[in-house]
Amino acid sequence: MTAQYTVHGDVAVITLNNPPVNGLGHATRLAVTDGLVKANADAAVKAIVITGAGKAFSGGADIKEFGSPKAMQEPNLLSVILTVENSAKPVVAAIHSVCMGGGLELALGCHYRIAAPGCSVALPEVKLGLIPGAGGTQRLPRALGVEPALNMIVSGEPVKSEMLAMLPGQKLFDKIAASPESLAEEALALARSVADVRPMPLVRNLPCKHPQGDAYFQFARNMVKGMAKGFPAPAKCVDAVEAATRKRFDEGMLIEREIFIALMWTSESAALRHIFMADRATSKIPDVPADTPQREIKSVAVIGAGTMGGGISMNFLNAGIPVKILEMKQEALDRGIATIRKNYESQVKKGKLKQDKYEQRMSLLTTTLSYDDLTGADLVIEAVFEEMGVKEAVFKELDRVMKPGAILASNTSTLDVDKIASFTNRPQDVVGLHFFSPANVMKLLEVVRGAKTAKDVMATVMALGKKIKKTSVVSGVCDGFIGNRMIEQYGRQGGFLLDEGCTPEQVDKAIEKFGFAMGPFRMGDLAGNDIGWAIRKRRYTEKPDMKYSKTADLLCEKGRFGQKTGAGWYDYVPGKRDAIPNAEVVKMIEDHRAALGITPRKISDEEIVQRLVFSLVNEGARILEDGIASKASDIDMVYLMGYGFPIYRGGPMHYADRVGLFNVVQAMNRFAQNPMDDAKFWQPAPLLAKLAAEGKSFT
Ligand code: NAI
Repeated sequence: MTAQYTVHGDVAVITLNNPPVNGLGHATRLAVTDGLVKANADAAVKAIVITGAGKAFSGGADIKEFGSPKAMQEPNLLSVILTVENSAKPVVAAIHSVCMGGGLELALGCHYRIAAPGCSVALPEVKLGLIPGAGGTQRLPRALGVEPALNMIVSGEPVKSEMLAMLPGQKLFDKIAASPESLAEEALALARSVADVRPMPLVRNLPCKHPQGDAYFQFARNMVKGMAKGFPAPAKCVDAVEAATRKRFDEGMLIEREIFIALMWTSESAALRHIFMADRATSKIPDVPADTPQREIKSVAVIGAGTMGGGISMNFLNAGIPVKILEMKQEALDRGIATIRKNYESQVKKGKLKQDKYEQRMSLLTTTLSYDDLTGADLVIEAVFEEMGVKEAVFKELDRVMKPGAILASNTSTLDVDKIASFTNRPQDVVGLHFFSPANVMKLLEVVRGAKTAKDVMATVMALGKKIKKTSVVSGVCDGFIGNRMIEQYGRQGGFLLDEGCTPEQVDKAIEKFGFAMGPFRMGDLAGNDIGWAIRKRRYTEKPDMKYSKTADLLCEKGRFGQKTGAGWYDYVPGKRDAIPNAEVVKMIEDHRAALGITPRKISDEEIVQRLVFSLVNEGARILEDGIASKASDIDMVYLMGYGFPIYRGGPMHYADRVGLFNVVQAMNRFAQNPMDDAKFWQPAPLLAKLAAEGKSFT
């Protein structure tokens, strides 16, 4: 049963029971309306209470029905709320723990509401690119007042029930219960006390006005425009709430519905809904069930106090987990600790971190020069130089000293994790934890699963990732894992664009206009062009027939490694990050073009964007085919969280699905005809070709 019906004397209680958060799926909606009919037909029942079992009143829509026709199947939520409003006997919502989205809209349809203290109340639809669609924009302003309601609807953020109850004149809650434990009893008492009150109050009949009308909504629109970052929904929230103040209730409901449906069709909302599901799906590993036992991680050791080691350590300190850092020399330790301190101190200065929290975190940090001090750690993460020989020495030491069952992780970005595991006698305990720089800021964590990595190790590190607030995505072992393997193809294509006639600035501007945080050349300057150079040199011997543009090598030969040398594809003023185009670099590219006998061609922004993004998509398809990623949405999460792919486009694979894989392949075939481009580059991955031919999508 997704809702239970019980009778307590003269009060019927309908208890939503659809774990985990009593989502209002079809079966639950049906059970609620059935309960209402039953209660109204029972002469012994005088009033009705609706509440939720377990951890929530209701979290709103059932995500299993997301975007499917089932979400609107009758009785849909609008009909359920109408049935509540039309009940001949008063209905009391007894709210606790979580009351969000459709859950709050249902409560707003009830005649009375009593809430437990500490309940999180929200209309979070805007976070999915939508507005509330079952009367939330029309009833909440009536119940709460226009301004606080609009704030909640535009931000989507939860507010505690007791805070809302303090708003002057609010009609959202008739009562706040003394405690969550007494809610049930108090709700029954409230129901009995109003059983005979007629007419029954309805939120829809409350007045809805703002004293400054026009001026207020003008102000709200301006505020929202600045915050919306290209998303249409926040401004639409203002429109819908304004309609609540200007139109009759029924008209306002129609306006809400129209806006809701229009937003449902926008690519922005589709992207946000995709990301919502993709984010939840990252932690699901096909052969590692959710109930896999986990190892306990109470303390962490980090090897290397450089750029990554320091940032990685901060993640655990922030989560209250003690960290011991090991280095080769005291100076290196001192430098590393000083950097961590500087980072925290700048947070304290900006008011983002309290002084006592800072001290508390630093007190969890210890250092050592000896491996023998690491024995007690439950997890060790290696972040030393990127050389197999160094990794070998470190992992042999770790194998010697770490206690049985400790997890041994490497932060390598390019090396073979299976090979690293083979340096130990416990490859089942070895895993890759690929953090992104700066490791204390970037949300992405690629969890690299070796051929022998144990399932409980995977379950443990995925849970730990959540604890340190990362988006953890599982990748198999391959050169570059998911993210860097794809970015290599994107970078290669960027080089071909220069050879054919683009400037770095033109390429960067085009892809930034598409929404990327940074174009490939600005990104190269930030990461250091020498890194790509080292990789290419390796490729020239490993894969001699792979075509590359030589421009990036020429740039590196001039020592233009990027921001760290003050010059790369662009020039940089010390202490600033603005990229200033450099005439010499443009000349270098032109000369190289001339030497190749290429007549430059004007390339449209659209072509630039397609060539760069479809390079990612094609390699992404290969990654899926090879089983390196288990689902396309994981690849999207890597690009959204780690590589600045525009959120409102939902990631490269989702974007390709929206464009249509047939169209993607058509475009690739066109690019392959271009004599300047590498025809082999544009050979569609077999999976992509197959899906396109079958009219299917990645998801
Ligand atoms: P780094 O050069 O800043 O730091 C390396 C540190 O390791 C140095 O402090 C060095 O003294 C120490 N070290 C070297 N050999 C050691 C040994 N045998 N025992 C103890 N300490 C030793 O390097 P970075 O950038 O922090 O990189 C570390 C690892 O993280 C590499 O595997 C790298 O590929 C990976 N990585 C780097 C990223 C980046 O953006 N810098 C991003 C993701 C991964």
